[in-house]
Amino acid sequence: MYNSRFAGLGYYVPENVVTNDDLSKVMDTSDEWIQERTGIKERRHVIKGEETTMTMGVKAAEQAIERSGLDKDEIDFIVFATLSPDYYFPGPGVMVQKELGLKRTVGALDVRNQCSGFVYAVSVADQYIKTGMYKNILVIGSETHSPGLDFTTRGRGVSVIFGDGAGAAVLTREEDNSKGILSTHLHSEGEHAEELALIAPGMGRHWVTDIIKNNDPEETSYWPYMNGQFVFKNAVVRFSEVIMEGLKTNELSPADIDMLIPHQANLRISQFIQGKFKLSDDQVHNNIMKYGNTTAASIPIALTEAWELGKVKEGDLVVLAAFGSGFTWGSVIIRW
Ligand code: ACO
Repeated sequence: MYNSRFAGLGYYVPENVVTNDDLSKVMDTSDEWIQERTGIKERRHVIKGEETTMTMGVKAAEQAIERSGLDKDEIDFIVFATLSPDYYFPGPGVMVQKELGLKRTVGALDVRNQCSGFVYAVSVADQYIKTGMYKNILVIGSETHSPGLDFTTRGRGVSVIFGDGAGAAVLTREEDNSKGILSTHLHSEGEHAEELALIAPGMGRHWVTDIIKNNDPEETSYWPYMNGQFVFKNAVVRFSEVIMEGLKTNELSPADIDMLIPHQANLRISQFIQGKFKLSDDQVHNNIMKYGNTTAASIPIALTEAWELGKVKEGDLVVLAAFGSGFTWGSVIIRW
């Protein structure tokens, strides 16, 4: 069995900055409320026609491939995590293959695990590399939330949180088993699927034909719904559990963590985890203040940023952890 390691990282966010004050002009909210509850100061929104989940993913991927030192023809497989694909189907993995001009028949897999999407995608890539099936895998997390959010006061509990952006990583085979990804840990609890969900249009009870036919302005099933406090309470418990699970598996403790990259769901969640594990500000990288919650893109954006700032160095113990819709959650333990 091989290990896999992060060979290259990249990210891309749209140029269009949307501040809390901008949002308070279109809905009943305030900079003070948003910052106090979430830590978010601003986020990026795509300009219609300029960027999509796929195009942002391509930009992040180009940077990650270039930094990996690999030729794009050496990429064996693509894993693309998103909840906001350009098309209902096919998913953006195959579109990235075409846009990047990767080998014509290289496999592409789309992962749908919302805020845990990147952690799930990394785990999938890690298994393929471990078994020797593939050597170099491109993993992307990209989201275009802004076109699908309710920017009236009705949707304020959800729409102020999310932002658009993309992050990517190239995972490659590592022959030294003490380096790279040491373990990944994935969980879900489908019992709470509807506590954070976008129900329609779907092929279940909310057919697109009915939505169009009814044309009901009170219909809310095509806006994301989040039971915020319930999600928050579960998030702090599951984040802690899954980080500890990863550490224990590797006979490590919180004191061994050099850098924690939590999914950027809410700064208060990150601060709770930081306090629980007694980590200093230098041991946790947060950027939700600038980008909001970019779901599957948040970890690769934050990881790339931390690496660019020199906060992730060879030999460091780096922990990735996520929690989100599903509920799904997971962690990745890495010896960098
Ligand atoms: N501006 C002003 N007031 C608001 C806003 C807003 N943007 N949003 C909600 N409010 C109001 C509510 O209407 C409510 O008013 P009321 O008391 O008069 O009814 C009050 O503020 C409190 O609302 P809550 O929803 O209870 O606010 P809470 O403190 O829980 O904060 C938040 C909401 C920020 C969403 C928080 O619950 C949270 O971060 N939850 C976790 C999010 C998360 O981790 N998601 C997982 C990842 S996302 C994914 O997987 C896709």
